[in-house]
Amino acid sequence: MNTPVTVSILGLGEMGRALASALLRADRSVVVWNRTPGKGIELAQAGAVEAATAADAVDAADLIIVCLLDHTSVRDTLDPVADRLRSRTLINLTTNSPEEARELGRWAVAAGIAYVDGGIMAVPSMIAGPGSEILYSGDEKAFRRCKEVLDTWGTSTYLGRDAGLASLYDLALLAGMYVMFAGYMQGAALVRTAGISATDFAGRAAPWISAMTHGLADFGRVIDGGDYTVAGQQSLDFSDLSTMLDAAAHAGIGVQPIAMVQRLIAAERDSGHGTDSFARIVESIAHPTPEGTFSCL
Ligand SMILES: NC(=O)c1ccc[n+]([C@@H]2O[C@H](COP(=O)([O-])OP(=O)(O)OC[C@H]3O[C@@H](n4cnc5c(N)ncnc54)[C@H](OP(=O)(O)O)[C@@H]3O)[C@@H](O)[C@H]2O)c1
Repeated sequence: MNTPVTVSILGLGEMGRALASALLRADRSVVVWNRTPGKGIELAQAGAVEAATAADAVDAADLIIVCLLDHTSVRDTLDPVADRLRSRTLINLTTNSPEEARELGRWAVAAGIAYVDGGIMAVPSMIAGPGSEILYSGDEKAFRRCKEVLDTWGTSTYLGRDAGLASLYDLALLAGMYVMFAGYMQGAALVRTAGISATDFAGRAAPWISAMTHGLADFGRVIDGGDYTVAGQQSLDFSDLSTMLDAAAHAGIGVQPIAMVQRLIAAERDSGHGTDSFARIVESIAHPTPEGTFSCL
């Protein structure tokens, strides 16, 4: 099987344009399409061929990359061109849920399309630069065949045949990122009460948080081992956030991010696990009470 010669990009939002532009800089033959006309002008000036319809874009290439808003927009765009996609390779870089990725994978197999799902671990300005990684899962042969093209955008990491895996990792990593960002915002709101700028705080928070990430591997070993009583781990009793909550209340600011952590700690302590490792809060997340589910927040 040969590396694809022409690549079609469906979707010219911020990310689709960055992906197309990187391929053009790497001298690839690129066809672009966007629902709303006008977003491909600069790409056309750089050598891309603009397709008038999604069907034309599919017909023009053996590798079709989809980077649209969400799963619904992907189905809206692909359903009408399913027949044309037959025997071609479809790589979907739209953010979706694992179940949506698996559903599209089943749809593709039924339609005779080689399907790979992807999760972009980068922002548009990072594409084809240092630190850019895209996670892939699904049809392994199709991934290997296209890898040389995909490597244009950064590190291409294949996770397995289950089409939902790339999304699973993508969302899990984003969960860590958003909660970490919210923790920084909590700190920034607290230091602001003493006239300290968020920029100054960022300069201190970044190396501190970065140093703390070394503890993740230890947490991982404890969680996988299932024994939260092991020595050397910070206990749930020791991790109590009352002082932090009191300081925030005294400063007149909200406590939402730290209150969320305190609730997880309290749930495990209330169940009699106060001397166990802080890592035990993963069990409250993995086995939520009705109050712990999103719809009840
Ligand atoms: N930007 C990032 O930092 C980033 C990072 C990682 C992953 N991603 C993911 O990459 C995907 C694209 O992101 P983006 O930043 O390029 O978003 P964006 O700038 O908002 O672009 C959205 C694209 O989806 C198209 N679209 C929306 N609804 C559609 C529909 N019903 N039918 C056809 N096309 C439709 C839009 O077309 P129109 O121009 O016609 O509206 C546009 O091309 C998203 O899933 C996003 O989560 C983005």
